Amino acid sequence: MINYKLANGLYIPAIGFGTYKSDTESLSMAIKAGYRYFDTASVYKTEENVAWAIKDSGILRDEFYIATKAWKDEMGYKEVKQACERSLKKLETDYIDLYMIHWPKPSHDYTDWKRLGTETWKAMEDLYKEGKVRAVGLSNFLPHHIDNILQSCEIKPMINQLEIHPGYSQEYACGYCERNNILLAAWSPLGRQRVLNHPLLESMAIKYNVTVAQICIRFCVQRKIIPLPKSSSKERMMNNTDVFSFELEKEDMYILMTLPQYGWSGEHPDFERVKI
Ligand code: A2P
Repeated sequence: MINYKLANGLYIPAIGFGTYKSDTESLSMAIKAGYRYFDTASVYKTEENVAWAIKDSGILRDEFYIATKAWKDEMGYKEVKQACERSLKKLETDYIDLYMIHWPKPSHDYTDWKRLGTETWKAMEDLYKEGKVRAVGLSNFLPHHIDNILQSCEIKPMINQLEIHPGYSQEYACGYCERNNILLAAWSPLGRQRVLNHPLLESMAIKYNVTVAQICIRFCVQRKIIPLPKSSSKERMMNNTDVFSFELEKEDMYILMTLPQYGWSGEHPDFERVKI
């Protein structure tokens, strides 16, 4: 597995495993399939499962990359420091590789989000300085939310995690992050299966002799975005990391980048969830 370097010089694997709804069995399977980067969050309630699977594997903690997030009701200076302690305890570790703020606002109509965001980020910086977290980042932050953090921060966010897949390429937000040296990770890189039946993606899969899921994962990899696919099957877990022996042609990348919106989750930080 290749790695990328974060702004602070530390390495992060180029593909991770999304643990939303994962049980211990599928996490153990993911370790056997070769995954070492696990993306969890306090709200997923999978931190304890990740800890269990890592312990059960007999592989050293340092070989793993654990990312977790503070939930909407854990925002605020004191709150996020307490949230981090809870996550450390559940993960049975004395450091988190990457700690993120899960959403930029506690709710879409929360008006004081700028003050709350900067206050929360101050706690993230202190956790980083204390060595409890080795990298700090954001999740679901769009340029206007990130700008607010950048205006007052001492340590810049190193990563931003967004919903990204063909049909939701988030080109503008990604460009903004790249210009600010913020690495990107993609949640639901397969559009939670919603994009897998797209005829254009199906024809591309035939052309490259791979699965549609591999087209989606490779779409991220070629943009230097870390995909975080989820799966409960070992075969599909392995299929999702087997994306380094083919390359999508420039023309196909253009086609994927400009695909009309398709397979969007309906989640947006500034709006009520859209039922799809
Ligand atoms: P399963 O657990 O049966 O493998 P996303 O990561 O975008 O949220 O998508 C997760 C969904 O995609 C899960 O329902 C998972 O189902 C399915 N999935 C994961 N990998 C593949 C694959 N290689 N081919 C088809 N479906 C997949």
